[in-house]
Amino acid sequence: MRYPLLRLRRLRSSKKMRDMLQEVRLSTNDLVMPLFVRPGENVEVPIESMPGQAQLSVDLAAKQAREAQELGIPAVLLFGIPPQKDETASGAYDDEGIIQQATRAIKEAAPEILVIADTCLCEYTSHGHCGMLKGEGENATVDNDATLGLLAKTAVSQAHAGADIVAPSAMMDGQVQAIRSALDREGLEDIAILAYAAKFASSFYGPFRDAAESAPAFGDRTSYQMAPPNANEALREVQLDIEEGADMVMVKPALGYQDIIFRVKERFGYPLACYSVSGEYAMAKAAANAGWLDEKRVVLEMLTGFKRAGADIIITYWAKDAAQWLK
Ligand code: PBG
Repeated sequence: MRYPLLRLRRLRSSKKMRDMLQEVRLSTNDLVMPLFVRPGENVEVPIESMPGQAQLSVDLAAKQAREAQELGIPAVLLFGIPPQKDETASGAYDDEGIIQQATRAIKEAAPEILVIADTCLCEYTSHGHCGMLKGEGENATVDNDATLGLLAKTAVSQAHAGADIVAPSAMMDGQVQAIRSALDREGLEDIAILAYAAKFASSFYGPFRDAAESAPAFGDRTSYQMAPPNANEALREVQLDIEEGADMVMVKPALGYQDIIFRVKERFGYPLACYSVSGEYAMAKAAANAGWLDEKRVVLEMLTGFKRAGADIIITYWAKDAAQWLK
């Protein structure tokens, strides 16, 4: 038996029909706003490669968080630029450190917003690597196991300051387990871990390293971050983090990695975040500022694509704009 020609166009015939049948809907509830916090008061230092973004002092970061709360954004993700850096990243786990101060100020100004603290050492080390080094000079390498204790200490300090979620991004093996045990030992079993599980060694982080002043002084991050061509390895990274106790996992970057987002969601069904990184922002922003792209439409299309691929949470520098556009 032959069926008549199937006309998918029937499903697109009116706006009502299209709205009714829309499969994925981007919402402000999906968005996380990153903030770069620096010392000082009433200081705003624009980030050249990320137009519209700035390093903010604690008071201004708290103000931003309050605005985000008013827009219905559920969470902010904090990165710190400490007053000074050293070999052992002491600013990361200092109870009076920049993230710890910012967390307390944000909790006071915007009590309903969730604070996610980025748990990494690269912004705090004098050499800019994500962990402790062993060996000398240019031949030094990152000492995975020696870094775990400091990451755990950082997470505990962030949690004591009021962070609801810690987000380890150093890509050290065993970091999730080390952090989970340390939190539990301190009676912080309600603090959730969002693991940067599949974090690729990406050139799209370029502008962030200006923003966070965290470019490695020598070498690169290819000995701890993942190689962009490897998808099966990304699934193994995610599996290990889940076994170590991650509550949520992340894929990063987002734009070139939607196949990974899709596969992680399909395979594990875990709460999944994707991080639309600084280079993705810089790229579309530059084109929009040149008048070559319609920023609002392009950004909403991009963010919806992440959602369609399987992300529940989207970390994006457009969080506030998107929340406004979605109103
Ligand atoms: C490292 C970290 C990086 C980003 C977030 N956390 C950069 C890196 O690995 O060099 C990148 C975020 C972005 O590019 O927006 N703690």
